[in-house]
Amino acid sequence: MAEKLISSKGQLQRFPLNIKGLDEAMEGGVPRLSTILIAGTAGTMKSSVCFNAIYKEAERGGNVLYLTLEQSYVSLLNHMINMGFDFNKVDVTIVGSDPAIIKKKVEHIKESKKGHIILSDLGSLRATIKGKESAANWWNIIFRIVKTLKDDCNISALVIDSLNALYVLTNFKDPRNQIFQMFNSFKELDLTTFLISEMPKDGSKYGFYEVEDFLSDGVVVIQLVDRNRKVTREINIAKLRATNASTDVFTLEFGKKGFEALYGGKMPLV
Ligand SMILES: Nc1ncnc2c1ncn2[C@@H]1O[C@H](COP(=O)(O)OP(=O)(O)O)[C@@H](O)[C@H]1O
Ligand SMILES: [Mg+2]
Repeated sequence: MAEKLISSKGQLQRFPLNIKGLDEAMEGGVPRLSTILIAGTAGTMKSSVCFNAIYKEAERGGNVLYLTLEQSYVSLLNHMINMGFDFNKVDVTIVGSDPAIIKKKVEHIKESKKGHIILSDLGSLRATIKGKESAANWWNIIFRIVKTLKDDCNISALVIDSLNALYVLTNFKDPRNQIFQMFNSFKELDLTTFLISEMPKDGSKYGFYEVEDFLSDGVVVIQLVDRNRKVTREINIAKLRATNASTDVFTLEFGKKGFEALYGGKMPLV
């Protein structure tokens, strides 16, 4: 978070995750402008949880950016349409890395009355990267796009899906140091940032280089738990700065009413 001192508790604005039961367990949401690690094993709905949070921000009229580096934007959108998100309430714009095209899209976003979900995937980014703007520069390319969208159409939130995919694209010489710089540059941007981290199956670490959790302002963990041959998703807040957050482990469910975090009501039969 860009370090600004608040004068009272109420000054800290919240960004709800839009998960019923969980937002209430963290004073209404994560602090705005903070960097939040969403860690989970494969299939734990990390992408869905992040999309769900920024979708709601777009529904409130905000502009948000979702960088999908693992799956294509078509695959992501198909998943979200199948989950029942209403794309009449928000506008969706796809951007690549070409500054001239981004400029045109920004004009369109500014004219629009609805909030915008701006999407970019590896395909759209690659298609517009010219010549030898090499793979080592991926991080710079992404940062430039995020900064342009922040400056020109005031995006309020960013999702990077996932850090692991970004690492694969990045030519690290000194990963821990470079990740430290990366997190710092995010914080300078004044955005609520969700960084998705694919956790190993044994849950032994939250981030690949084991620095992501202490560099983040918050860590939300989602895990698959197998009890009596029934697998449920469980969610908990492992860390959340500037928040009186519950340490309870909740069952995460998705239904007609959206995401819900349940506690106690759905104990498994032992
Ligand atoms: N309509 C739906 N309702 C509930 N769960 C769904 C629905 N559609 C897909 N899923 C679940 O979402 C999971 C994938 O979610 P996703 O957010 O892509 O996970 P992750 O990003 O953690 O890999 C699938 O394993 C599937 O079980
Ligand atoms: Mg995913």
